Amino acid sequence: MNKALRKAVIAGNWKMNKTPNEAKALIEEMKPLVKDASCDVALCVPFIDIPAAIEAAKGSNIKIGAENVHFKSSGAYTGEVSAEMLKEAGVEYVVIGHSERRTYFGETDQTVNLRSLAALNAGLKAIICVGETLEQRELGYTETLLKYQTKMALTNVTKEQLKNVIIAYEPVWAIGTGVTATADQADEGNGYVRAAIAEAYGEDVAQSVTIQYGGSMNAGNADELVAKENVDGGLIGGASLKAPDFAKIVAAASK
Ligand code: 13P
Repeated sequence: MNKALRKAVIAGNWKMNKTPNEAKALIEEMKPLVKDASCDVALCVPFIDIPAAIEAAKGSNIKIGAENVHFKSSGAYTGEVSAEMLKEAGVEYVVIGHSERRTYFGETDQTVNLRSLAALNAGLKAIICVGETLEQRELGYTETLLKYQTKMALTNVTKEQLKNVIIAYEPVWAIGTGVTATADQADEGNGYVRAAIAEAYGEDVAQSVTIQYGGSMNAGNADELVAKENVDGGLIGGASLKAPDFAKIVAAASK
């Protein structure tokens, strides 16, 4: 992290876990454990949990996020949720382009871009995910792919809007596998993302963007990861479902 240049953000991504009642209980447990954080703290939760999560987080430093957003404001899109709906509900962050959405739900670089624009235009903070598969890494495409995904996601995003953008570098081979990227690999991946932003917006702007690492980040490895220059926090899956573990990660990013 380089806290002089940019804000560290630790965000949980609960994926398809926790009912509304369970969400309330977990947030109540987390609140006292993360209250002294000097980094930003967010929990991105299933749509159905959002009202309960916002109610539970009230008066605390925990912000609530969604895990996806549609790119149209309204219309015949059964099952989808718009950025305006999220905003009105009190949501502040939204995860976009997670590899699980790219793999299982047909998300493409184009739809990631459209969703990002919709979120930013509604005043939400977009956590945009990029990352290579193991095969792509072994073929030597990591840098090319990360730069391409980053630039595609940010097409038509203005310099001003970039202030509400967080990029999460999540190597697909590290997600939910227990295999964490080494701190050097995380720093290198995040560095490629920063370089892509510099190519598109200039070096000064790139230095101000928060770039998280995600993929089996946990209470045991968070210190080493966030110590790296380019790792400005994390997007946490499994470990964000356990209050003490999540709190340890928040503490690591608060040092
Ligand atoms: P895990 O922390 O469970 O590996 O998940 C990472 C992730 O996908 C966060 O978005």
